[in-house]
Amino acid sequence: MSSWKGLIAEYKDFLPVNENTPILTLKEGNTPLVPLENLSEEWGVEVYVKYEGANPTGSFKDRGMVMAVAKAKEEGSKTIICASTGNTSAAAAAYGARAGLRCIVVIPEGKIALGKLAQAVMYGAEVLEIKGNFDNALDIVRSISEKEPVTLVNSVNPYRIEGQKTAAFEVCDALGQAPDVLAIPVGNAGNITAYWKGFKEYHEKKGTGLPEMRGFEAEGAAAIVQNKVIEEPETVATAIRIGNPASWDFAVRAAEESKGKIDYVTDEEILDAYQLLAKREGIFAEPASCASIAGLRKQIESGEIKKGSKVVCVLTGNGLKDPSTAMDTVAVKPVVLPNNEEAFLSHIKGGVTQ
Ligand code: F0G
Repeated sequence: MSSWKGLIAEYKDFLPVNENTPILTLKEGNTPLVPLENLSEEWGVEVYVKYEGANPTGSFKDRGMVMAVAKAKEEGSKTIICASTGNTSAAAAAYGARAGLRCIVVIPEGKIALGKLAQAVMYGAEVLEIKGNFDNALDIVRSISEKEPVTLVNSVNPYRIEGQKTAAFEVCDALGQAPDVLAIPVGNAGNITAYWKGFKEYHEKKGTGLPEMRGFEAEGAAAIVQNKVIEEPETVATAIRIGNPASWDFAVRAAEESKGKIDYVTDEEILDAYQLLAKREGIFAEPASCASIAGLRKQIESGEIKKGSKVVCVLTGNGLKDPSTAMDTVAVKPVVLPNNEEAFLSHIKGGVTQ
């Protein structure tokens, strides 16, 4: 039985908590750092994945949300609100339920994965769809939170960043030091901001070193790379379908200060990485997560990531959140056979190559 107490209790010395902060937890954090044995050998680098899909609601958002909701509760708020491409809304709904707060989530109509929507409704959030994209939804909830007594729990809430920075601590603890490279998907750019803050704080306290921060947007939503707002972002990786990232400047700074880069990957590269990770390593992460693997592959080929480097790719969300993309992506579907052992035997034997 693990004695892991959850993020707030485990990292209180690094977090803005005091005696009035509720020790809210669903035992988030402490996620596995898994070595990619097969792909490391093939690519000539030492790759690990930080598997954030193992968090209670299946994404890294739980780290930020536990802090944001605990602080909202501490400050006497009764209602939380967020815009979301799905994972933030799932996490807000779960922690809101746990803390007894009203939770309102605003999502782009038809553009969030089914599992994420199921989570928000199961946890009892009030789900509002907007005929618009994430950026439009964020504009609305930001404005509402300035006028109404509701707490905004998107990553523009600084407590979200505080909670999410703890993933960098765990990476350093697992490896004994920071990796050479941290590869991470970029959507609204809160998580790359949080990791960079975490690496810097840990280095200051424990001398763990600093990685190159390499962030990856989807090509159809690559606002930072193109240095312009994308009015109609489009990508198969719906979680990062964002055209005007709120933490844009912080992401640019993280890349510059660490001598890394914000780059993009195509949908084809994302879907290739998505399948490769599942088929070669037994790890199922949602499409947006796989932007980190696709980006690693791209920059090994370009020579920007050197052979022999120690690389951590952040896998931000669980593959089970988005079963539709999985079924649309794989060419081979389950074979249907009669209810009869013979038929199975002959099919299996026929399928065995000698
Ligand atoms: N990966 C996944 C699975 C995500 O859900 C998100 C963001 C990101 C990567 C990008 O992280 O925004 O900090 O750069 N999802 C948000 C949401 C926008 O509403 O769930 P970021």
